[in-house]
Amino acid sequence: MKTYPNVFIFDHPLIRHKISILRDKNTSTKEFRELVEEIATVMTYESMKDVELVPVEVETPLERTVQYRVRAESVVIVPILRAGLGMVSGVQRVFPTAHVGHIGMYRNEVTLEPQEYYCKLPADIENKTVFLVDPMLATGGSACDAIVALKKRGVRNIKFMAIIGAPEGVEKVAKAHPDVSVYVSTLDRCLNAQGYILPGLGDAGDRLFGTK
Ligand code: PRP
Ligand code: URA
Repeated sequence: MKTYPNVFIFDHPLIRHKISILRDKNTSTKEFRELVEEIATVMTYESMKDVELVPVEVETPLERTVQYRVRAESVVIVPILRAGLGMVSGVQRVFPTAHVGHIGMYRNEVTLEPQEYYCKLPADIENKTVFLVDPMLATGGSACDAIVALKKRGVRNIKFMAIIGAPEGVEKVAKAHPDVSVYVSTLDRCLNAQGYILPGLGDAGDRLFGTK
């Protein structure tokens, strides 16, 4: 795949270790859910390298000093339902006070086109840094539509995080939204004829919620 300035592929050895367990069809729903949460936490740290810090005065036991903190209230987490829900608690470990919006999308199984069925976002979202989260970036249709929904609400600072990306989807989002940072833990080979990522991990929503 071509490189894009707005795409960041982690390929961290510890994340690769966890993803190898996620992929295993024998991994239980409980373990799958825990791993998705853990990976989301690590991804959040990695994707915040460019975050704006504000100066604060701190008194140590020895002296007063100026230090720097993240404005935690400036972050909103938006999962793409359903599977994105599994990443929310992982991001909340880093930003426990972040507000959470929801965008519901499902892929039409024949056309693979995303259908939006729900959208509820915090009222003051436009000035926030939004973490849009979904474990799977396949054709990129769901991510692109969710990004458009956020932009229509005036959001300008969007970070999209997916655990597994297919080259097709990563390129689609990167080209359609060069202003959005796209963070992917691992880049897989391709999509199959049904739009599933190979080698992938199957249907992330079903595996998270035990629905199949
Ligand atoms: C999955 C996944 C993404 C989407 C990715 O959701 O969680 O939202 O597919 O595919 P795309 O990049 O081709 O759009 P799905 O539609 O299966 O819904 P679910 O989360 O409710 O299971
Ligand atoms: N959605 C999933 O959950 N898995 C895939 O492989 C593709 C889309």
